[in-house]
Amino acid sequence: MCGIVGAVARQGAVLQDLVEGLRKLEYRGYDSCGVAVADGAEIAIRRKVGRLTELEALLADGALASARAGIGHTRWATHGKPSDENAHPHSDGSGRMALVHNGIIENYLELRRELQAEGRKFSSETDTEVLSHLVGRELARGLSLADAGRAALSRVHGYYAIAVMAVGKTFELVAARQGPPLVVAATADAAWCASDVLALLPHTRDVIYIEDGDVAELSPGKVVLSRVDGSPVSRPVRHIDWDEEAASKRGFPHFMLKEIFEQPDVLARTAFDRILQLEGDVAFEGDGWDDAGLKRLERLQVVACGTALHAGYITKYLVESLARLPVDVDFASEFRYRGPVLVANTAVLAISQSGETADTLAAMRLARELGCRPVSICNVKGSTVVRESEAVILTHAGPEIGVASTKAFVAQVIAGFMLAVRLGRARGVLAVDDGRRLLDELRCLRPRLEGLLTEKTLSAVRRIAEKHVKAKGFFFLGRGVNFPVALEGALKLKEISYVHAEGYAAGEMKHGPIALIEPGMPIVVINSPGKVAEKVRSNIEQVKARGGHVIAIGADRESLALADDAIEVPDTIEWLSPVLNVVPLQLFAYHHALLRGCDIDKPRNLAKSVTVE
Ligand code: M6R
Repeated sequence: MCGIVGAVARQGAVLQDLVEGLRKLEYRGYDSCGVAVADGAEIAIRRKVGRLTELEALLADGALASARAGIGHTRWATHGKPSDENAHPHSDGSGRMALVHNGIIENYLELRRELQAEGRKFSSETDTEVLSHLVGRELARGLSLADAGRAALSRVHGYYAIAVMAVGKTFELVAARQGPPLVVAATADAAWCASDVLALLPHTRDVIYIEDGDVAELSPGKVVLSRVDGSPVSRPVRHIDWDEEAASKRGFPHFMLKEIFEQPDVLARTAFDRILQLEGDVAFEGDGWDDAGLKRLERLQVVACGTALHAGYITKYLVESLARLPVDVDFASEFRYRGPVLVANTAVLAISQSGETADTLAAMRLARELGCRPVSICNVKGSTVVRESEAVILTHAGPEIGVASTKAFVAQVIAGFMLAVRLGRARGVLAVDDGRRLLDELRCLRPRLEGLLTEKTLSAVRRIAEKHVKAKGFFFLGRGVNFPVALEGALKLKEISYVHAEGYAAGEMKHGPIALIEPGMPIVVINSPGKVAEKVRSNIEQVKARGGHVIAIGADRESLALADDAIEVPDTIEWLSPVLNVVPLQLFAYHHALLRGCDIDKPRNLAKSVTVE
């Protein structure tokens, strides 16, 4: 959460670059924002509660336009409400330093008391301001900014990505990381840092992901890396495949809609180059997916959060059915604190779009400490999850900007499906012909997805959304591999439309939740041909008998006929049906939110990348 950006240039103004960088990072938090810039002996700070447009209004007088260095921040509040005072950058009151921070300083109260006892004055409720004063105190003792940063960081417990600047005899800009992501880059006449490569793409595609405990000193054309103890370190320069165009709306009114429409291409990018049709198998890049290693596995432990967790549940159904390997799935935030018991030869599979989710990372690290082999399904190439995995399936979904995850989910499900095939083949459970049949179906999915993303579907979904725009709450029901799809449909609606929605295993309704059904209550039921289709039809009857308004989604014609409203989805095999069934649910949430006037790409209280606990 929170986005930070920093720039220092030999010549030329950086303010506009900082603002544009913040625009790319706004998805990480958007309750307030600010910049600090320097052009001479003083640092000027401008910060404002609200969106970036508020800050831009504040900067419109052009007073800071020629600054050659600066830092910026877009905030997702943890300590202290969104306000001008709590917005970053923070300083020590000297006018000679400023700092932006993403993360949490856990011992900030104790440090604040210590600093106040020395006469230091605080002007915000944030934990970050403590760090500014710690750095300021060391600068006052004559330390360089990098050493002052090191000394300050040695006092804090918690996790952080920071960018800090100071003016003195010369200008200095330092960035450091312990937990949240940070990328740095040097170009011919400048140097940059940011929470996400997206903010750096206008300047370069060659970046360095710094590691926990690294400190980066930035000057025009140069980045010098060291460890927090001062020892030198070097990190590889990585080339980013994404371009700026991929991170734009391409004419769609919202990133979310654009990303929903990208799903057929995402499917192709995630799957097609990896299919070995003749062998009825798939090949993932890199080491770690070979037969010998996979044969040894006795269990798979999935850890993930939110939408990625739902993809994990689907992966469980797929791997257990197609590869007969036991799979456990856990909320990463629960796994890490429940003292998990793991059997020998377990691989921990982290699923994450960003690869930076704090809970997922912590769960993965814990499982590794407990002897599991860390592997992952992830969308971001240089992310921490990827770097800490022994084997990775990159989903190649491209940058996902909409806070509500859509295309990343479809890519994760496809990766899960291919993993199930690979495991099935490696373990000798899946015959070549069966592998071929499954992969044939996967290939056929792209035109089916395209066929679903038409004006016909959009207007049918819009009509249903209009009908239920005033509904108090929704149930989403599914069974088998489509139970997690119900969870995902409910999550999408909650996230962007702020309506109560409950995803439930359809067969479990009768054990309690059915009491909630009142005449007219909208119940979305996902059903596709397969083992449980008939059972789901019975569940539809039970809901109808209590006056529920059934909205059926899927390829099961009989369910569609039973329902009050229906969206037909092209047929495919049961195992791949989630990829198609989720699309109308994404569109439903989108239209429902639109009708309710919600901010679709930046829903309230949320942030795209959750790098705090
Ligand atoms: O980046 P990750 O996939 O690790 O993120 C996990 C969740 O925070 C994320 O899926 C979240 O639930 C989305 N907002 C869902 O739309």
